[in-house]
Amino acid sequence: MRMYDIIEKKRDHLELTDEELNFFINGYTDGSIPEYQASALAMAIYFNGMSEQERATLTMAMAESGDMIDLSPIDGVKVDKHSTGGVGDTTTLVLAPLVAAVGVPVAKMSGRGLGHTGGTVDKLEAVPGFHVEIDNEEFIRLVNQNKLSVIGQSGNLTPADKKLYGLRDVTATVNSIPLIASSIMSKKIAAGADAIVLDVKTGAGAFMKSEEESIELAKAMVSIGNNVGRNTMAVISDMAQPLGRAIGNALEVREAIETLQGKGPEDLTELSLTLASQMVVVGGKANTIDEARKMLDEVIENGKALETFKTFLASQGGDASVVDNPNDLPQAKHQVELLAKKSGYVSEIVADEIGNAAMLLGAGRQTKDSEIDLAVGVVLNNKVGDYVEEGASLLTIHSNSDDIENIKNKLYENITISEQVVKAPDLIKTLIS
Ligand code: URA
Ligand code: CA
Repeated sequence: MRMYDIIEKKRDHLELTDEELNFFINGYTDGSIPEYQASALAMAIYFNGMSEQERATLTMAMAESGDMIDLSPIDGVKVDKHSTGGVGDTTTLVLAPLVAAVGVPVAKMSGRGLGHTGGTVDKLEAVPGFHVEIDNEEFIRLVNQNKLSVIGQSGNLTPADKKLYGLRDVTATVNSIPLIASSIMSKKIAAGADAIVLDVKTGAGAFMKSEEESIELAKAMVSIGNNVGRNTMAVISDMAQPLGRAIGNALEVREAIETLQGKGPEDLTELSLTLASQMVVVGGKANTIDEARKMLDEVIENGKALETFKTFLASQGGDASVVDNPNDLPQAKHQVELLAKKSGYVSEIVADEIGNAAMLLGAGRQTKDSEIDLAVGVVLNNKVGDYVEEGASLLTIHSNSDDIENIKNKLYENITISEQVVKAPDLIKTLIS
């Protein structure tokens, strides 16, 4: 088999066989296929797309290119959730204990990474003592015992995807639905998921800006999942403005606690419950979304979800008393209100720019080696559609620095107040299954 012929076939709109795709992924991973031939194939795929069969084969080839996590010692259907990334997205912290409380095992491998705030691991580390450096046996024991554990990333997962993503990044081939969909799905499958729920964000703060593209990506991933035996569902959700009110690590932990107590922000609550309902269905604990939703409402009401969160924190060294005393979470030295300069309806809160402001305060990493400040961030006091009076607080800045004039200016530039009545945007655009 020759790489040349594979490139030529894809260039000429022909379908690649399983053998050809496996030959490409294996050869590219072990270095026997050079970068220039891989680039040519990526560009041919960018222009000519991939069939359903090709997408499924590429996904499994990438998933199997490195370690595959074996979660079979855990009882039940292991459901994972993936978000394409948003600002102030605290849903994992809410829905993990929620679905665990109704008996769906959550065995989550999470990372730190770059961004507006830290990743799930950073956020959880705002709880004093909490750590994810546990070994595999302990991880599996904890999931079987509590239905929930989070372990740090380790091992060599999907090296083919790492290499190919890096190549796509410098060859203008990132933006291809089959390549994005197989990239994301390969990582979930290698991490051991039996079933997958996807939160595909749309809007200014999202990877996919338009709703049509977001739907296309979601459909592509759901179809890959179902074709490779992983029951998959997706939600398309709004990311024009940040999700919830808090953007920052400790601030989001506090927000997650409030949401598990049934008094969180409306949008975060709704999205968490929607995604959790899908997880309960693909996890086989309910037959319909409505049935799942009732079970989840109940564990919020009777306190079981919050109890599950406490047990989870304590089992990994965390001080679970912060759940009842959230003031014991890291707190910033200064709380500064950003006051509305005029009265009117909030018409825009640009998600990614508000996220960048939080990062400049220290909530997220600008580079891999940046230190993160768990205490800082912003808390929105108003969301799109709200009426504000001149002089009322639009948001509260939590800062450890005295000099935040430039950050205040950035925040002002990215919040618009209009005289006309503005309707709050729909949070959940579509459900795909
Ligand atoms: N995120 C991924 O993990 N892969 C892509 O290809 C694009 C976004
Ligand atoms: Ca939030």
